[in-house]
Amino acid sequence: MNDTLTFVVMKDCKISRFTLYTKPALLYLRLSSPTFNLLQFMTVAPWRGAIAHALHRNRSLVYARYLQLATVRDNRPANRTVVFRGFIDDTDTLKFITDIRSEKVEQIQKIPWGEACWYFPNTREQFRLNGSLTLITKDDISFQQAYYSTWRDLSDAARLQFAWAHPGKPRANLEAFSPPQPDANKPLDNFCLLLLEPVKVDHLQLRGEPQNRTLYLHSAAGIWDIVEVNP
Ligand SMILES: Cc1cc2nc3c(=O)[nH]c(=O)nc-3n(C[C@H](O)[C@H](O)[C@H](O)COP(=O)(O)O)c2cc1C
Repeated sequence: MNDTLTFVVMKDCKISRFTLYTKPALLYLRLSSPTFNLLQFMTVAPWRGAIAHALHRNRSLVYARYLQLATVRDNRPANRTVVFRGFIDDTDTLKFITDIRSEKVEQIQKIPWGEACWYFPNTREQFRLNGSLTLITKDDISFQQAYYSTWRDLSDAARLQFAWAHPGKPRANLEAFSPPQPDANKPLDNFCLLLLEPVKVDHLQLRGEPQNRTLYLHSAAGIWDIVEVNP
């Protein structure tokens, strides 16, 4: 790891390891011990900066927030477009929303792994984010703040869709698509947060001669390794 410095320090009699990353251009500090959770604001993954940069440079394109999310259906791939709804606070976890009645939910309950493929047209770069998927419903204990705030932040039209007829079932009559407007403070039971926590990120930049491709791999020690590979 050319660009990585690793330190071992003692704190409260616990040994902790942290690593300084200097890629892609910014400094990142990755802490591997919960002892340091007070410093959580510094623990975002090194690829977060590249995504933040891409989002900023593509902010004029509404569809730059759409990405394809693949899951596994009966041992075969299943894929669909979803909207990126931001990160969970200062973590590496991407946030999406979905209807609990949609087919992807059952797929994720069986195999909680997926891969997002995200292309940014202005900057001509692709991110493939592979990781674990977690569904958050009203009944979950964790992520309730994100659950409610994400529902509140939706448009009326987006909230209404969670009261529509069952997705994927034979076409219902028109009345099934004219429900009363849901309360902005009371998520409907069908509303579900979907979280992707990447363990591998593959970043391909078409700009450049030759092109650049960087792999970010989350190691068992909780540290991100960064490897430059051929495009
Ligand atoms: C531009 C666009 C954005 C979409 N955003 C979402 C989304 O954020 N969440 C979602 O569940 N489905 C979204 N969909 C619909 C999905 O692509 C898919 O049709 C639906 O979720 C059912 O997929 P499933 O049967 O695999 O569960 C979107 C579709 C398009 C075309």
